[in-house]
Order: sequence, then C-alpha cells, then structure tokens
Amino acid sequence: MDYKPLLVREEHLRVLPWKFQTADVQFNLRDYRAADFERLWQIDQLCFPQGISYTQMELSGFITRRNAITLVADFGELHSEQGNLPVSRLQPSDGLNSGVAGAELCESAADSQTIAGFIVAHAVRGKAGRILTLDIVPAARRLGLGSLLMDECERRLRWFGCNEVYLETAVNNQPALRLYRKLGYRILRTLPDYYATHSLDAFLMGKPL
Ligand SMILES: CC(C)(COP(=O)(O)OP(=O)(O)OC[C@H]1O[C@@H](n2cnc3c(N)ncnc32)[C@H](O)[C@@H]1OP(=O)(O)O)[C@@H](O)C(=O)NCCC(=O)NCCS
Repeated sequence: MDYKPLLVREEHLRVLPWKFQTADVQFNLRDYRAADFERLWQIDQLCFPQGISYTQMELSGFITRRNAITLVADFGELHSEQGNLPVSRLQPSDGLNSGVAGAELCESAADSQTIAGFIVAHAVRGKAGRILTLDIVPAARRLGLGSLLMDECERRLRWFGCNEVYLETAVNNQPALRLYRKLGYRILRTLPDYYATHSLDAFLMGKPL
C-alpha cells in the first residue's frame, strides 16, 4: 500500500486532524470527540460478536480512562478507477454482527464525515502501552487504515514514554494476526479461554516501540 499523507507535521504531537489518502479513498484522522461515542460503540458491535464486543460501559470506561488514546478516522472523498464510487456500493466483508445493521453503516459512509474506523489504547508513562481495540468498518478494510491507526497510536504511545506495546487477539482472527505480524508484533503466549463466552483462546502479542 502506498501511503500519501497529505498534511503531516513532524512535531512530537502531530496536530490532528490530518489527511491520509490511499489510491481510492481519503481518510481524515482526528482525536475522539464525545459525540462519536454512540457510533464507535455501534462499530465495535459490528466488528465483533456478542460477548467479545464491548458493552457501552466497558468502551466508555476505556475511552475516558486517564492516558487513554482514542483516534478516529473519518471517510474523506472517495474515488475509484470507474469514477466516484459511493461507499454504500462497496461490499461489506466478514466480521458482520447481526446485532447492528451493517448496510446502514455502509450507506451512511457516503457522508464525508462518517467514521471509518477507530483505535483505543492506554499509555502508562515510561512503561508499556496496551491496544484495547482496533475497529475498521467492513467497507474500509484492506485500504491500509488499520495499519495507519496502529502507526499513529504507536507514535503517541512512544510520545507518552512507552517503550513496548501489547495487545490481545483471538487465536482465530486471521486478518488481525496478519496485520499485527506485518506491523512487527510477535506472539508472546496463549491466554487460555480469554474470551470465555466463546470458549476461545487469545494470543498475547507485543513488540518494542
Ligand atoms: C483486522 C482489521 C483491523 C484490519 O484492518 P484493515 O484496515 O483492513 O488492515 P490494513 O488494510 O491496514 O491491512 C494491513 C495488512 O494486514 C493483513 N490483513 C488485513 N486484513 C486481512 C484479511 N482479511 N485477510 C488477510 N490479511 C489481512 C494484510 O497483510 C494487509 O496487507 P495487504 O492488504 O497489503 O495484504 C479489520 O479487518 C477489522 O476491523 N476487523 C474486525 C475487528 C478486529 O478483528 N480487530 C482487531 C482485533 S484485536
């Protein structure tokens, strides 16, 4: 994927929002706003099955915790080789959870300010950072957005003084495992029955920052 950041500044704490463009889609990266909460929770419901997705209370607790990092990516302008292609025409891929209308999210993605994905992490100054969730709506997957949010989040964690970062992911989540491996994460150990409601193990993954 050829990244073309449009507005990148070199200061420690880059001023958001900034724009990021793939061949087909432009994303605008920014910090979380309270008004985003309902949509972020819906996206989390869309991305993960019941029991693995967060409750509103859990997600809210993570986002509002001290030293939380929550970055949000909005859809910008859309382009395709055939001309403009509304996001509503893009095919949703895997990961749909029947609890939330995926079509509705994809429809409204045609709105230039619609959220395409987000990431939540925690930083403990001088220690380890932890990625709590990374959620990309189906219409925005395989466009480099997950990688972009991870890169920016890791940069923030380094700025907070973290020298290592950890995350957990289900052992059967192949897209996530491939993404994290590509970004340099290694499996550190298996966490048996981590997702107890699904009798599913997780991998603890990590890397130095
Ligand atoms: C996993 C997820 C975050 C990936 O986001 P994304 O924006 O599609 O990822 P990227 O486009 O940056 O992909 C980077 C690389 O990851 C790997 N990857 C991502 N999705 C993949 C898939 N479905 N199958 C195989 N490899 C995949 C590829 O190596 C890809 O590079 P490539 O497109 O050049 O081959 C996204 O699919 C998602 O939100 N899934 C549901 C929620 C989830 O599982 N979150 C992570 C759990 S902790």
